[in-house]
Amino acid sequence: METAQRLKGISEYYFSQKLREIDAMNKAGRQVINLGIGSPDLPPHPDVIRVLQEEALKPHQHAYQSYKGSPVLRKAVAEWYRRWYGVELDPEREILPLIGSKEGIMHICMTYINPGDTVLIPNPGYPTYRSAATIAGASVMEYALSSDHDWFPDLEAISQQLQASGIRRALMFVNYPHMPTGQLPVRERFEELVAFAQQNQVLLIHDNPYSFILNDNPVSLLSVKGAKEVVIELNSLSKSHNMAGWRIGMLVADSRRVDEILQFKSNMDSGMFLPLQLAASRALELGKDWHDEVNDIYRTRRARAYELLQLLDCTCDHNQAGMFLWASVPHRYADGFALSDAILQQAAVFITPGGIFGSAGNRYIRVSLCSTEEKFNEAIERIKTRMTV
Ligand SMILES: Cc1ncc(COP(=O)(O)O)c(C=O)c1O
Repeated sequence: METAQRLKGISEYYFSQKLREIDAMNKAGRQVINLGIGSPDLPPHPDVIRVLQEEALKPHQHAYQSYKGSPVLRKAVAEWYRRWYGVELDPEREILPLIGSKEGIMHICMTYINPGDTVLIPNPGYPTYRSAATIAGASVMEYALSSDHDWFPDLEAISQQLQASGIRRALMFVNYPHMPTGQLPVRERFEELVAFAQQNQVLLIHDNPYSFILNDNPVSLLSVKGAKEVVIELNSLSKSHNMAGWRIGMLVADSRRVDEILQFKSNMDSGMFLPLQLAASRALELGKDWHDEVNDIYRTRRARAYELLQLLDCTCDHNQAGMFLWASVPHRYADGFALSDAILQQAAVFITPGGIFGSAGNRYIRVSLCSTEEKFNEAIERIKTRMTV
């Protein structure tokens, strides 16, 4: 059997290839420091793990679960959205727990895209938007982001492009705090986005997993007036609660959207392990203290990351949110790939080249803050002593 047409043009995920290369270097004794991937190295709150342990010990907690998620988790999500984002959601009808927000991206594409339909994706942006849209048969249209426009889309230009191409409906992925650039959400820009979606028959998918990391003001796109008509929001506990491996996310939207997506999703999985959902509900109750503690650690690491970037003559905006630093590379390097390769080969430190997020990221690199301060210090030392920058 050959692979299906829908996989043509879908390549192996960059990190999956890169990790093999790093593995080979480690086997050869290089002890690579990986400042690439955004997988939190810190644990969840101990109470969260306790709930998982206690619930998993109960003999009746191991059955299939509802496709719509546990009512306890849906209620916790509704409370969480009210408390942090000021958004009112009906826990019965407007919330769908997910096995990580990544699966939500795929489910949305499979639910709404017919072959040839347009999906607008950010360049630079999270690579999964493109692959999920492509697998669903979409025609992918990139919209460029640049530092000159504060990494927000030029909505006027997109609107003209849609009209010129005769496109009457489209799905559009947006993501603030933005990965990889760290751009913060801006309320005024969010209002413009919703107005644009209303005027252009666009369904906005706001992917919002970074709002609690190094960001004092979490914002939901659903908090904009009228947004429920045109917005589906994805969120996740992966980064905000150090639970990336648990695979817990959520989709929040108008009840009609939730029902439509459930039509697809209920044919894909059979619910989530109840102790995970109950522990996630506990995590969503955590207060500002806990987030502050986690952010203090990221802040210390970020200070080291600034130092490291300075050594490499890279420049970066000091007002970024999320667990990465996005920095432009000096002109003596052809692009971010060249600098990333040089650091890996000479200093055995891996930093992600910005070009993997799209061509507009070619002159950038992205440093992950998911490594200890000691690892950052060691990386700085290696760059100082081993690199000919
Ligand atoms: C922008 C963005 N969206 C979604 C995800 C996926 O998150 P989850 O772990 O909830 O699937 C990531 C993870 O790296 C991400 O960077």
